[in-house]
Amino acid sequence: MKSAKLIFDGKEYELPVAAGSENEVGIDITKLRSTSGAITLDNGYANTGSCTSSITFIDGEKGILRYRGYPIEELAEKSSFIEVCFLLIFGHLPSKNELENFEHDLTHHSLIHEDMKKFFEGFPPSAHPMTVLSSMVNSLSAYYPESEFEENQYLNIIRLLAKLKTIASFSYKKSIGQSYVYPQNHLKYCADILNMMFAVPSAPYKVSKVLEDALDLLLILHADHEQNCSTSTVRMVGSSEANLFASIAAGINALSGPLHGGANQKVIQMLQMIKDNGGNYKKFVNMAKDKESKFKLMGFGHRVYKNFDPRANILKASADKVLGELGISHDPLLEIAKNLEEVALKDDFFIERKLYPNVDFYSGIIYRAMEIPTNMFTVMFALGRLPGWIAQWVEMKEAHGARIYRPRQIYMGETQRPYVPIEKR
Ligand code: ACO
Repeated sequence: MKSAKLIFDGKEYELPVAAGSENEVGIDITKLRSTSGAITLDNGYANTGSCTSSITFIDGEKGILRYRGYPIEELAEKSSFIEVCFLLIFGHLPSKNELENFEHDLTHHSLIHEDMKKFFEGFPPSAHPMTVLSSMVNSLSAYYPESEFEENQYLNIIRLLAKLKTIASFSYKKSIGQSYVYPQNHLKYCADILNMMFAVPSAPYKVSKVLEDALDLLLILHADHEQNCSTSTVRMVGSSEANLFASIAAGINALSGPLHGGANQKVIQMLQMIKDNGGNYKKFVNMAKDKESKFKLMGFGHRVYKNFDPRANILKASADKVLGELGISHDPLLEIAKNLEEVALKDDFFIERKLYPNVDFYSGIIYRAMEIPTNMFTVMFALGRLPGWIAQWVEMKEAHGARIYRPRQIYMGETQRPYVPIEKR
């Protein structure tokens, strides 16, 4: 096994080196503080491996993303979201029998407790659906307390996967003041989501195959992305042995931020703003380059991808296809997005900083064409990311030598000083 040497304060320390199955290397500093007294400092954890994992592999330089070894491009073309859920959580592609049982279980746990409907009623109509989603997921632990038995863990995983789509759709219905549409056992997972979102009691609704396939693809592409902000949050909360629902609710909250999952909503709002300002996209590229403006091109840049985001490439091609199939011959926002991308990719500011469109840049265009409202975009992201969060939570729980997550800090505040009575301040 390789090792690394650190010379600090005149002393030499030998640090073991961990090598991953794709030849990634990590200097293991587990014993650094106890032997040297020093810790490492890594703002934003950009150089810190918080765990070893066998779920998702990303090579950001080469634009590679694989779930359990399978390339995202192949899964996007050949698999289904439910198969990907199984793959991520259980580590292998399901047999026909396993898939049937899994689908059966997911179908038969999709109803939520009737009392939970009262919670929806308590929110103001203006509540963001992400706020409602995380609150409702949190409250699931009140209905399904956890026990140490393995079958209960399986059952809670199924419950969460099955009910999140119902909760997400109900939160949408609540926001537009329509009656809730219950899950239907005869519908597949994605078709059921669309039915619950768009059906109304007064008219028949037939789920379009184009929309169902588009949603399936979007969910597959969002299903996992190793140790990002929300996934690390799920692991962090779960490391205290908080239950599955509490851990996932925390992940949903982390996802809601505009620098993370909330970016898909911001991208559409930005494109709309550019359109409303006469479509002068070059002006906004210049604004993004001016640090004083505080304006960022939403949907651009990524902590890990420094060449291209493979998910964005798949979605760019899919956007043209889906819009074509839906008979949308011209979408001014898609046009602005493409122009923006073209200008930015030729600009030295973006080239030097390796800023490329990320998954959120094109996903919003497709959601919009599907008539999914903008404030639901991040909820759709959460539906997609759920199996990844669950897989990572299970892996964290079952890891050999699992410990509570507890980073350190370098304190920069005041040193000890005496208390000053109020009359002397
Ligand atoms: N527009 C303009 N400039 C940018 C952008 C952007 N979208 N993103 C990064 N930069 C600049 C930074 O200002 C910085 O410039 P500097 O070196 O001159 O200071 C440089 O590029 C590096 O950027 P960082 O912010 O250090 O990169 P970091 O890895 O910390 O952040 C992030 C990555 C959060 C994705 C960032 O690129 C961003 O804010 N993008 C816009 C929001 C977005 O699309 N988020 C979704 C990410 S994907 C996801 O979570 C699903």
